[in-house]
Amino acid sequence: MHKILVSRGCFYPENHVPPPFSFEPPVRLYNGLSGSCRMGAFSYSVGRIANIEMGRYCSVAHGVEVLADHPTGYLTSSPVAYETMFPQPWAEPVKNPNSFESNKPIQLGHDVWVGAGVKFRGGITVGTGAIVAAGAVVTKNVEPYAIVGGVPAKRIRWRFKKVLREQLLASEWWRYNLSGLDLDFTNPEKALSQLQKMIDEGLQPYKPQWVEVKN
Ligand SMILES: CC(C)(COP(=O)(O)OP(=O)(O)OC[C@H]1O[C@@H](n2cnc3c(N)ncnc32)[C@H](O)[C@@H]1OP(=O)(O)O)[C@@H](O)C(=O)NCCC(=O)NCCS
Repeated sequence: MHKILVSRGCFYPENHVPPPFSFEPPVRLYNGLSGSCRMGAFSYSVGRIANIEMGRYCSVAHGVEVLADHPTGYLTSSPVAYETMFPQPWAEPVKNPNSFESNKPIQLGHDVWVGAGVKFRGGITVGTGAIVAAGAVVTKNVEPYAIVGGVPAKRIRWRFKKVLREQLLASEWWRYNLSGLDLDFTNPEKALSQLQKMIDEGLQPYKPQWVEVKN
């Protein structure tokens, strides 16, 4: 399994079998996965993530978690209200009439950088180009190209001025394989016009096949 996945562009530790997930090569999982994920090309995670769907060019640090929810308005916040937490020999399993969605995945756009130890509430969406500062607890959706941090996370600043944010989003630069292209990455405006020239001269979007890993 390890050799097959590496040959298909998913780099992960040999002693770890990833759970079912899908990816667009290449991706890198420095410490495997601990639950279902979907990863776009050129994205990587240092920590063992679960319940995250991300676009391309995302960087996810260690200690990042998507927090499961418990109900706040039920008689009890305990999962005994909606699932069999303590099965036999303590009690016969009962069919519970209540339900609760505990594990909602989060969605990261493209080029999202998630700092170390960030915690997300389930169901959150993080816009393309956003940065989440180390240690943040994210309770609300994050706008594209915002840098957010703190508990609860608030906007610290924008990465770029509005005009440039709009140009970057409109360009959809992440559709291309940027690795090895002669672009001035240090100057986003210049890099965009260099990329546009390459596109005008025939550069094609990067469209690899998604790989479904079923275990
Ligand atoms: C957010 C971050 C990217 C810095 O962004 P920046 O805009 O360059 O930040 P600055 O240093 O200019 O600080 C801007 C403000 O944000 C605050 N800030 C910086 N990092 C913060 C954090 N992690 N949490 C809360 N606030 C933070 C600063 O205190 C400063 O506040 P002030 O304006 O009240 O003085 C960086 O602090 C960070 O968290 N990087 C993640 C590092 C990491 O996790 N690496 C793991 C390996 S990938």
